Amino acid sequence: MTSNSTGLSAYIKQSPPLDFSIPYDDAWVKDRTIVVTGGASGFGAGFVRRWAANGATVIIGDVNVEKGDALARAIRKETGRDRAAHFVHCDVTNWQSQVNLFKEAVKWSPHGGIDTVVANAGIQANDRLQQPGDLGAAEPQPPNFATMDVNVTGVLYTTHLAYYWLPKNPGSKPCNMNSVPDKQTRDRNLVLLGSIASLAPIAAAPLYGASKHAVLGLFRSLRSTSHMEGIRVNIVLPYFIDTAIVPPMAKLLLAGGGMGKVEDVVEAATRLVADTRILGRGIVVGPKVTIKQDESGEFKLVNKDTEGSTETALWEAYADDWEEVDAFDRRVVKLLNAVEQARGWVGWATDIAKLVGYQVFGYGGERS
Ligand SMILES: NC(=O)c1ccc[n+]([C@@H]2O[C@H](COP(=O)([O-])OP(=O)(O)OC[C@H]3O[C@@H](n4cnc5c(N)ncnc54)[C@H](O)[C@@H]3O)[C@@H](O)[C@H]2O)c1
Repeated sequence: MTSNSTGLSAYIKQSPPLDFSIPYDDAWVKDRTIVVTGGASGFGAGFVRRWAANGATVIIGDVNVEKGDALARAIRKETGRDRAAHFVHCDVTNWQSQVNLFKEAVKWSPHGGIDTVVANAGIQANDRLQQPGDLGAAEPQPPNFATMDVNVTGVLYTTHLAYYWLPKNPGSKPCNMNSVPDKQTRDRNLVLLGSIASLAPIAAAPLYGASKHAVLGLFRSLRSTSHMEGIRVNIVLPYFIDTAIVPPMAKLLLAGGGMGKVEDVVEAATRLVADTRILGRGIVVGPKVTIKQDESGEFKLVNKDTEGSTETALWEAYADDWEEVDAFDRRVVKLLNAVEQARGWVGWATDIAKLVGYQVFGYGGERS
């Protein structure tokens, strides 16, 4: 764990920055039940294939019935396991549709619980926020918020349902960065799909950029206290990768610049899902490059045959998020941890909970 002047790292229970040279084993996902929204194509289909091939039960929730159903059937045939994959029609923008997905997942789960939820479904709809149309029209037309509906509302519904079902996973224990992954068969794990558009502005796509910034904001806010619900939360932040979501114009503009590969996104997500020691980390996935660290610790691009060089597409993001954290965050996290530690000291805990309620939520510890 990184040390910092506020000493907050000890409270947020976030695992140390990732070292990609440390091996993990795909077999650690065996017997886990994993829900993947948007699992019918692109990254989602890559996750589903790899995890089912390694013994997991994967529930695909997607609006694309044809592709989702065909994928689930193909996986059941390839693996010879009836419970390897199951498709459920789900529109993530619809609350009840997501509730049905999670209920169906629990029904299909060989152990009656959910170990991992991957909030992957996302779109990039026609983004006309900056082009309101005919400026001479009597009435302005409302913008199309489909991107926000899927990428923000959909992800928030998935997150809320993950926090409902993951703690109830039978036989699971609260997440722990000192867990032994090959022995931890049950998990409580949420993976979010951000983007390079979470970290940087994305020209000509303000809605997509806003939606992915929102997903990053969600991740950074959740991860400070997620261990209190016992849930590991991590995020994957891919650069442009050749799937259906990237518009032809973007592919044209990127021509020759190198796009990332689906297999590298799948690799990043598999590490986060398989390794139960990873809490609160983000992985950026870009095009594969050959690098070497110089004496000052900086990474430099080098030729493939350079001695001591390594090839990678994965980078840790926000390794030092909490180094300069503000006083409000620091106090809230410390207080919430104090409440957790005080469980059992009923009277004292009640007072503290009320105090936190007034301070943070503006209510007296009672929610209507
Ligand atoms: N490909 C990239 O360059 C890239 C880069 C960064 C982040 N991402 C993110 O990765 C995730 C997966 O994208 P992808 O590249 O695999 O795209 P994709 O278009 O191949 O897959 C997205 C899947 O989501 C499904 N989907 C769309 N709307 C849905 C809804 N309302 N309910 C349920 N399912 C729905 C689609 O049917 C599709 O199967 C998205 O969140 C995307 O924003 C993609």
